[in-house]
Amino acid sequence: MSDLVRSDVEAYAAAHTTPFAASMERLHAEATAELAYPQMLSGPVVGRLLETLVFALRPKLVVEVGTYAGYSALAMAAALPPGGRVVTLEIDDTNADFAQRHIDASPFADRIEIVRGPALESLAALDGPFDLVFIDADKTGYPDYYEAALAKLAPTGLIAADNTLRDGGVLAPDSESDRVMAQLNDRWAADERVIVTQLTVRDGLTVIRRR
Ligand SMILES: C[S@@+](CC[C@H](N)C(=O)[O-])C[C@H]1O[C@@H](n2cnc3c(N)ncnc32)[C@H](O)[C@@H]1O
Repeated sequence: MSDLVRSDVEAYAAAHTTPFAASMERLHAEATAELAYPQMLSGPVVGRLLETLVFALRPKLVVEVGTYAGYSALAMAAALPPGGRVVTLEIDDTNADFAQRHIDASPFADRIEIVRGPALESLAALDGPFDLVFIDADKTGYPDYYEAALAKLAPTGLIAADNTLRDGGVLAPDSESDRVMAQLNDRWAADERVIVTQLTVRDGLTVIRRR
């Protein structure tokens, strides 16, 4: 959880967002108990926003860069139209095993595929067009994930990138990840190929479409 938005405001937003099924809360609790870095899980507000994007876009193919516990993949899969699928990319086997277990126990196992390995290689191997790409992995990889996603983005597709405010660190970067993200935010804002909306939801979510 980010400190960017006051914690009481975050709690208020979560309390006024339609909750997911109880199984998602159990996944969240188990990830907190079993996995490293449980704060990486996107949570109910970003999850519901992603699910709503899927609802509106009716995508055939959603690509997620960074599976972690499978929370956001399951959130997005819940709103897929018939025949739609989520392909989610994960480098860490412990995280992928955890996510696969929860995906198998969900009603959406036939719509979600975890591809293990470095995301950039997996993106290169995937056929487009991508209707929605959720970028949520190592921050120094974002510039490459963005270019790989844009190259295969459907004409009406969207890219959503998480943690783009870095808890406010993009304002005065003091780590490599903050610097990469600050430079990328500047590049996106000036990128003539796209239209960009920098949302201040949670830790910053940037939504990008073709111009
Ligand atoms: C922030 S978490 C993803 C959270 C998940 N999208 C959610 O919202 O619940 C980032 C994940 O990206 C994975 N990751 C980091 N570097 C990666 C890479 N080069 N390729 C694929 N996955 C990577 C991490 O192992 C971690 O599970």
